[in-house]
Amino acid sequence: MPLKIAVIVGSLRQDSYNRRLAEALVKLPQANDHAFTFADIAALPHYDQDHDGNQADSVKALKALIGGSDGVLFVTPEYNRSIPGVLKNALDNGSRPYGQSCWAGKPAGVIGVSIGAAGTAMAQQHLRNVLAYLDMPTLTQPEVFLKWSDELVTADGTVGEKSAEFLGGWLAAFLNLVAIHRA
Ligand SMILES: Cc1cc2nc3c(=O)[nH]c(=O)nc-3n(C[C@H](O)[C@H](O)[C@H](O)COP(=O)(O)O)c2cc1C
Repeated sequence: MPLKIAVIVGSLRQDSYNRRLAEALVKLPQANDHAFTFADIAALPHYDQDHDGNQADSVKALKALIGGSDGVLFVTPEYNRSIPGVLKNALDNGSRPYGQSCWAGKPAGVIGVSIGAAGTAMAQQHLRNVLAYLDMPTLTQPEVFLKWSDELVTADGTVGEKSAEFLGGWLAAFLNLVAIHRA
């Protein structure tokens, strides 16, 4: 059965490596037959609890996307040893009003690429902490920490030859987790 996966990229940068990685991941053969939809987190307002009773259309759209998805794929850079504010803002917006979080129970995959050797390890650890609180069962193994190189994602937007088997295996493990939770 095809799975519906929401993709959240934690960078708004036009030429974002993480967006390029995300777009390449969903072209891997393991993604075939599944439906991936990228969320627009740039459109979200800064989270403000005063607006819980009257959420912006962009927040409603995010919540509808997540609500209609079987799982969520997070592809994020590391900013100052944590997750970017725009990603935390998306998580906060989707988590409220209290009791009406869109995230609860949705299986998640966490991956990211940085220009540094630590490969988003600390951002991923911080993100896992938040996802645990949001009640999102998250793929534990394999873990993936990537340092950007032009071989990782080729100019034509596909995963490079050397990384395809490894990243394809990771994607398959994530999709398997999603399938188990949907069953
Ligand atoms: C505000 C800021 C903080 C950063 N902090 C880190 C960091 O803690 N660890 C790291 O490996 N790279 C860090 N970087 C470098 C990012 O890995 C690099 O900018 C990367 O290209 C961001 O991902 P993107 O291309 O998807 O936007 C930081 C970059 C910015 C702009």
